[in-house]
Amino acid sequence: MCFVSFVFQVSKHKQYLDTVCEDFFSRISHMIEQAETRQSHVYTGMTSEILQHFHLGRGRCEVFEGRDDVIETAREYLNNNSGIPLTIYGKSGCGKTSVMAKILEQCCEGHWVSPDGKPYAVLVRFLGTTPQTSNLYQLLDSLCGQLSVMCGRPWVVPEKFKDLVKSFVDLLRKAGKKQRIVVLLDSIDQLMPAHNAYKMTWLPDNLPSNVKMIISTIPEGYPVLGSMRERCVPHTRGLPYFGLNV
Ligand SMILES: Nc1ncnc2c1ncn2[C@@H]1O[C@H](COP(=O)(O)OP(=O)(O)OP(=O)(O)O)[C@@H](O)[C@H]1O
Ligand SMILES: [Mg+2]
Repeated sequence: MCFVSFVFQVSKHKQYLDTVCEDFFSRISHMIEQAETRQSHVYTGMTSEILQHFHLGRGRCEVFEGRDDVIETAREYLNNNSGIPLTIYGKSGCGKTSVMAKILEQCCEGHWVSPDGKPYAVLVRFLGTTPQTSNLYQLLDSLCGQLSVMCGRPWVVPEKFKDLVKSFVDLLRKAGKKQRIVVLLDSIDQLMPAHNAYKMTWLPDNLPSNVKMIISTIPEGYPVLGSMRERCVPHTRGLPYFGLNV
C-alpha cells in the first residue's frame, strides 16, 4: 500500500469514527432528554399527592384489626347499583380513617373486584392531610386532574366553582365508562367550610353509573351527616366506640 493511499484510508477511518461518535452522542443525549421529560411528566405534583394518600392508607393497614361488619358493608356497597355514596360516621378516634384505609387496601390489592371482574380504579383522599385536601375547590381540582389522566384528557381548572363541580361529575361519568370507579373521601369534616363544603351539594343526587363513593365524617358539629343521611339510608351505619388495640 502506498503512503498516499494509507493516509487517505486513515483520514476516512477517522471521519467514520467521528461520525459514529457524534451520532452516538446525539442519540444518547436525545434519549436522556426524552427520559427526563417522561420522568417529570410522571412525577408531577399530582403523582406525589396521590402517593401521599396511598402511603397514609398503607400505614393504617399495618396495625388494622377487626371491623368485619363495616368492611363487609363496604364490599357489598361497592358491588351494588346504588348511586348514593356510602357514609361511614363515628366519633373522633373510633377508627374511620383506619376503616377507609382497609377498604382502600381491599380494593387495590385485588381482594375485591368489581362485578364485571375487573379491578376497581380507586381515587383516595384522606382529607386535611395535605394542602390539596383542605379546601373543597382544591380537592375537586385534584380529583379532576387525576380523572383527566385516567380519561386521557388535558385538565384546566375552571375559575368558577360551579363549573368545577360540573366537570367533576362529567369526568366521573367518562371514567366510569371504562372501569368501575371508587372514590374514597375520608373526613369530610376536615375540609374548610368554604363553598358550603359540609352541605354536600357539590355531590350529585345520584352518582354516575359505575361510580361508587365512600365518605367518612364525625357525626356532630358539622352538617355533613345530616345532609347525607336522607340520601344514604339504608347504607349509613355508625361506628361504635372501641378500645384501641394498638
Ligand atoms: N381497626 C383498627 N385496628 C387497629 N387500630 C385501629 C383500628 N381502628 C383505629 N385504630 C387506631 O386508633 C387510632 C385512631 O383511629 P383513626 O384515626 O382511624 O380514627 P378516626 O375515627 O379516623 O379519628 P378522627 O375522627 O380523629 O379522624 C389510630 O391510632 C388507629 O391506628
Ligand atoms: Mg380520621
